[in-house]
Amino acid sequence: MSRTTLSGFSSRAIHHGYDPAENQGALTPPMHLASTFAFESAEQGGAIFAGEEQGYFYSRIGNPTVDLLEQRLAVLEGAEAGVAAASGMGAITAVMWSLLEAGDEIVTDKTLYGCTFAFFRHGLAKFGVKVTHVDLTDPSALEAAMHQGVKVVYFETPANPNMRLVDIAAISEVAHRYDAQVVVDNTYATPALTRPIELGADIVVHSATKYLGGHGDLVGGLVAGSAETMQKVRLEGLKDMTGAVMSPFTATLIMRGLKTLALRMERHSKTAMEVALWLEAQSQVAAVHYPGLESFGQHALANRQMALPGGMIAFDLAGGYDQGIRFMNRLEMIIRAVSLGDAETLIQHPASMTHSTYTPEERAEHGIGEGLLRLSVGLEEAEDIFADLEQALVASELSIAA
Ligand SMILES: Cc1ncc(COP(=O)(O)O)c(C=O)c1O
Repeated sequence: MSRTTLSGFSSRAIHHGYDPAENQGALTPPMHLASTFAFESAEQGGAIFAGEEQGYFYSRIGNPTVDLLEQRLAVLEGAEAGVAAASGMGAITAVMWSLLEAGDEIVTDKTLYGCTFAFFRHGLAKFGVKVTHVDLTDPSALEAAMHQGVKVVYFETPANPNMRLVDIAAISEVAHRYDAQVVVDNTYATPALTRPIELGADIVVHSATKYLGGHGDLVGGLVAGSAETMQKVRLEGLKDMTGAVMSPFTATLIMRGLKTLALRMERHSKTAMEVALWLEAQSQVAAVHYPGLESFGQHALANRQMALPGGMIAFDLAGGYDQGIRFMNRLEMIIRAVSLGDAETLIQHPASMTHSTYTPEERAEHGIGEGLLRLSVGLEEAEDIFADLEQALVASELSIAA
């Protein structure tokens, strides 16, 4: 059995592409910090630059440590190849600068992570790309918006922050009839729960800062797709346009995170399900948005598209924005912080934090409630999470009366 033909998800996450025997027996892959690589001859240097011979020459284009991570992500996503970037935004911008040109149109869902929304609205639009927001939870809405000028259909599922799901297979079918490429931000689900390329999408992007890294100690981005498209993203978007490449140190940390990804996603999902049920049973909670709940509007799609419902929950308190702020301030173990996917349970208020890049009118139009809270359920015991939520809920109600 070869380490490159393993079929299990975690076996691949742990072994793919690496043989200790080729590295002085080292169990973990060495970290190659070199910025540049020696040529055996001037002719060889020319051949590598011309793409006629395989080889590393400069770490902005390729690095052995980063390369191993790119191969691992690709195999976990069921893609031919991967590309790493300095951040999730580095990954998203490199893909878009590579796929689009002035005069093209991109159709995207209504709900997007705040900086992705800002990049589309203020970045792409400034350079002549038309950005159209469509409710992609309804594939017939995409059908109505499509024409040959649309080059990319882009969405998150589950979407940050309101947990809307998009049917990857149905949307890809419509987009491909118009020759558009489908790009999915798979940050929330990770390939442990959903593999968009296997469902018909063309490209997957990630904020590896979140679950892939998993420990809140790095910022990174990853892309997976066909070998041809990844080469274009590497040589155009990344090498020349953003230059936002990942460091070998970050790649090493992400490879460590990937080894426990499936295990962590199981635990995040199990605890988040318990927390979502608990929240739903509280009279002070007006609405809970979690794919695992039977009350979730897209529960059937969640069952079809996600192996498990994941670790992210969005909810509204009955007392709206004011109670939400009081509640957050009373939490003792749960940490008030943006980002997600860490061992620590994190809570934030999208309207004033991650989605403050939208105007209030845009948030209303795009379905992002002013009082909505976003909870990233960590790896602590569920009892401790309930206890903290409960005491903060009680305290936030008492302080209304006071
Ligand atoms: C869904 C999603 N995509 C992309 C990003 C951007 O990633 P990064 O912060 O690593 O640039 C984030 C960050 O919060 C995110 O939540």
